[in-house]
Amino acid sequence: MPRQQILFVDDEPMLLQGLQRMLRPYRSEWDMAFVDGGEQALAKLAEHTFDVIVTDMRMPGMNGADLLKEVMRRHPAMVRIVLSGHADESLVSQCVGVAHQYISKPCDPEQLKALIQNACVLSGALVDEEVRKVIGAIDRLPSVPSLYLELKAALSMEDVDAHELGSIIGKDIGMTAKILKLVNSSFFGLRRVVSSPHEAVTYLGIDTIKTLVLTNGIFEQSKPFKTRLLTLPDLWHHSMTVAAGAKTIAQAEGLDLAHMEEAFVGGVLHDVGVLILASNFPDLYDQVAGLVVSERISLSTAEKELFGVTHAEVGAYLMGLWGLPAPILNIVSLHHRARVQDEGRMTPLISVHAADVICGGHEQDSVFGTGRLDQMALERAGVWERRDVWAGLVAQGEDHA
Ligand SMILES: [Fe+2]
Ligand SMILES: [Fe+2]
Repeated sequence: MPRQQILFVDDEPMLLQGLQRMLRPYRSEWDMAFVDGGEQALAKLAEHTFDVIVTDMRMPGMNGADLLKEVMRRHPAMVRIVLSGHADESLVSQCVGVAHQYISKPCDPEQLKALIQNACVLSGALVDEEVRKVIGAIDRLPSVPSLYLELKAALSMEDVDAHELGSIIGKDIGMTAKILKLVNSSFFGLRRVVSSPHEAVTYLGIDTIKTLVLTNGIFEQSKPFKTRLLTLPDLWHHSMTVAAGAKTIAQAEGLDLAHMEEAFVGGVLHDVGVLILASNFPDLYDQVAGLVVSERISLSTAEKELFGVTHAEVGAYLMGLWGLPAPILNIVSLHHRARVQDEGRMTPLISVHAADVICGGHEQDSVFGTGRLDQMALERAGVWERRDVWAGLVAQGEDHA
């Protein structure tokens, strides 16, 4: 992997020096530059190419949100990370569409390192040029044919029900990803972040959805993939059980409605990378599935071997390019490595991670059956002892489905 070029921006000299000291051990892997303001950062970027920018939010003059907006415009390929204190919440929400990742202060160097590696992995030499080209060019994802037809039928009714539209879209991986991309794009000029298909339908309005679907064909079918060991319906079934399970777990842990919904949508999308890889490279993906089933290795390990990259990385990369909300991106990116995001409490990410492992356990012979609970992540969140309760609740839900 080539050395990563990373630019750090913070107006407090003490903090900048602290960062510099703390990150010294990574000098062998990273080339780091440190500047103390937005203007200086843009000047630095004009004279030198960087892969990643890590910026403070609250700065005099140009704040972090404005800086990242400008960076996104001038250097769209860069990875954009926000380093923010707890008091910066409203500022952070301003840049949710332009930042790829958030880290809270004081920052843990290991966590920062993991995030940067995670975010950069695709810009490195790890990925085959062909894979990168394909991902960069994807503008739609295959939908489950029956759901697509169901949506078209619903839209042709006289009195279309917005809630029903949201439910149909919310049951499909490709449609969910695409509607969230649309509703969060600057094109529609919404000032808030929308992370559920139901909300997306409400915000866009039924007429807009009709035009998008029936006239512009945004969800139009691409050929559903079929490999020998994994089909689109298999993936759909897995994603939906994980979504329902994640919501159940989030509810059992007392997360609020918004976070329960985030767990559900995150569950629908968590394996979007599998959809991307399997539908674009069916033969190679069949070999991945074969390895998983015969060797009982994880999907990620097999993907790494054959693609040089995992479905979590590919999924997060495309969803990042599409500008999906950060919490959903984090779920896609970290659902097999939940410990990377340490918030010291229960989160939608942990709900999806646990549901993925629990549901996978019920699909022993499939490619989804080799996951393990991330004990460290669950312990840090204080929920390790809850795993059996969750398994029971998820199984109950599956029985009723
Ligand atoms: Fe996965
Ligand atoms: Fe999964």
